[in-house]
Amino acid sequence: MYLGIDLGTSAVKTVLVDGAQRVIASESRPLTTVSPQSGYYEQDPAQWIDATFATLDALKASHAGELAAVEGIGLSGQMHGATLLDASLRPLRPCILWNDGRSAAECLILEQRWPALRATSGNKAMPGFTAPKLLWIATHEPDIFAAIKLVLLPKAYLRLVLSGEAIEDVSDASGSLWLDAARRDWSDAALAATGLSRDHMPRLVEGCAPATTLRGELVRRWGMTRQPVIAGGAGDNPAGAVGIGAIRPGTAFISLGTSGALMAPTSRIAANPDRAVHTFCHAIPAMWIQAGAILSAASCLAWLARLFGIGEAELLAPLGARPQAPSPVSFLPYLAGERTPHDDPAVRGMLDGLSHGTDRGTIVQAVLEGVAFALADCRDALADAGIAIAEADVIGGGSRSPFWLSVLANVLNVPVHRFVGGETGAAFGAARLGRLAVTGEAIAAVCTRPERIETFEPDAELVDTYAGRLPAWRELYRPRH
Ligand code: XUL
Repeated sequence: MYLGIDLGTSAVKTVLVDGAQRVIASESRPLTTVSPQSGYYEQDPAQWIDATFATLDALKASHAGELAAVEGIGLSGQMHGATLLDASLRPLRPCILWNDGRSAAECLILEQRWPALRATSGNKAMPGFTAPKLLWIATHEPDIFAAIKLVLLPKAYLRLVLSGEAIEDVSDASGSLWLDAARRDWSDAALAATGLSRDHMPRLVEGCAPATTLRGELVRRWGMTRQPVIAGGAGDNPAGAVGIGAIRPGTAFISLGTSGALMAPTSRIAANPDRAVHTFCHAIPAMWIQAGAILSAASCLAWLARLFGIGEAELLAPLGARPQAPSPVSFLPYLAGERTPHDDPAVRGMLDGLSHGTDRGTIVQAVLEGVAFALADCRDALADAGIAIAEADVIGGGSRSPFWLSVLANVLNVPVHRFVGGETGAAFGAARLGRLAVTGEAIAAVCTRPERIETFEPDAELVDTYAGRLPAWRELYRPRH
């Protein structure tokens, strides 16, 4: 029996997976994000721990026998967040999250101080990444900077609480900008450029390797009969890849979570930092992921549901199964700024083309299409790096909507596939990493592709109409910096 714990942005999701890779039970607890100013996003690390413990306590109550048999645990997590710990390993301040845009000025300073940044990390310095956040702290909160003993990404903090050890996996570490992506090790020069050294960093392991074990006290609390191994785990996007068997070149996929991404596993680095393509180490050795990342995907729908005061399912229901024609309204999904391709933390969203005839459904459709157009921008940025997308699997909460998947198939002009359990992708992928760390099985034998439940084929007429709309949609973007 294996556990996958995904420390997401909107919730912690924990899944219990058996030896036949069936999800036996899952529990989720919501998380709240605080926005002290526009473009600033923070979370209290204490709530990650409370939420994780609540999911495990609930599993103990409902599935005590299965939980007792857990041998391996995999962690997945929201990437890039800066969790700063003092000498007693307590958080010095709330974690600054992946979608926080406050450190734009520090990105420029970092690239000047360390000209090899793009060549070494495979990435452009963008505010979402961890390193510029530390430069911001050094300038704006110098007392906190001086007190930093350890800098951890969110799931490494969770692992510290679960095991007592500070360890990170290379996939999540590559979202910090401190990693030499080719060597899969910290770059001393990168760390020095932010006034830090290896001493401030956790030990690194591969995602599928054993990292540590669950603390004895927690083993007793959850009634496990053996002390479970905790694997390296992965950032939520690489963990999602493992969950759907995207472990080879040619297995591109889309994640429609709070954020969105179009990702392509590669056997060599094919970076394109100039167009804000992300380079991550994969959660399996000797593989990487090139990704176009957008900051708001399913969160755009959540925003709309809050605005209209109804549930997301109710918003989507009137749209039917597939679009007949594009919405007359256009939407820019830049509610938290944007990474690929603009790298513009200051830009904000937009609804264009509203009229007296605009009803709720027109706006909902425009929002889904706006996210799909943003992913088309990611596709083109990846194409510039020589990565062509022939088809795409979809994971994340947004994959529940057939209408959205049909829009994606037509906007991207590729077949789009949906899976059984696609919404729990990252937690399931993490459970697979937990299993690999215990059994040492062949990666390909465990990371198989789950059953596809539906394929959305592009329709030639709609493909042409959407392609015709894309240039006008792109025109709506006006840089704010
Ligand atoms: C990826 C990214 C997000 C977060 C939160 O670069 O910032 O996908 O991992 O899910």
